Amino acid sequence: VSEYPSQQPTCPERVEHPSFVLRCRDETDAPRVKEVVDRNLDHLRRFMPWAWREPEPLEEKAARMRAARDRFVRGEEWQFGIFSADESRVLGAIGLHRGAAPTTMEIGFWLCQSAEGRGIVTEATRILTNLALTSLGATRVEIRCDVRNERSAAVARRLGYVLESTRDEVYEGWPRQGQTWVRTRPV
Ligand SMILES: CC(C)(COP(=O)(O)OP(=O)(O)OC[C@H]1O[C@@H](n2cnc3c(N)ncnc32)[C@H](O)[C@@H]1OP(=O)(O)O)[C@@H](O)C(=O)NCCC(=O)NCCS
Repeated sequence: VSEYPSQQPTCPERVEHPSFVLRCRDETDAPRVKEVVDRNLDHLRRFMPWAWREPEPLEEKAARMRAARDRFVRGEEWQFGIFSADESRVLGAIGLHRGAAPTTMEIGFWLCQSAEGRGIVTEATRILTNLALTSLGATRVEIRCDVRNERSAAVARRLGYVLESTRDEVYEGWPRQGQTWVRTRPV
């Protein structure tokens, strides 16, 4: 039991937007998430190293969802599925992760190809940016992407993130030129 329970950051497990729902996933979501990831491998593999380890067996996907939910509940990081407004379809995922410093957080996201072009990730990133900076104790939120990932950079730019640096780095084992976009105030 934590000595300072009131200081544990809390994050809603579900956030509704008129166009989509963000929700912490559990193992019952694994079949639908797997189906969408497997259908979008080429799309995801361009910039996401983990997609090269896909497709993974359903049991592994379910275990991954369970572990992510545990980390969510413990306040270590917060991964959400992005679902259609009626929750009948999995559209993608977005997560708020701990960054290099205690008050730095990082947002990562992906959408299935058919859900691109509707502003869904921009709006979901707005929601998580504001949660991070107002409720979860962050003073700095980063979006980090490959310089060639123009759609990711456009999400950051649209929300008033500032391009802080562009440098050679190794991201999950991949050498790349990476951009770091930063926001320090709610959007
Ligand atoms: C990165 C990624 C999530 C961006 O998706 P996206 O659809 O471009 O982003 P959004 O959902 O915010 O939609 C923005 C688009 O919708 C349009 N749009 C429509 N309504 C909008 C609204 N209300 N608000 C904002 N944009 C809107 C924008 O004009 C833009 O379209 P455009 O690029 O043709 O100008 C997606 O390309 C992806 O999943 N890529 C593969 C995985 C990946 O690279 N992940 C990121 C790693 S860092």
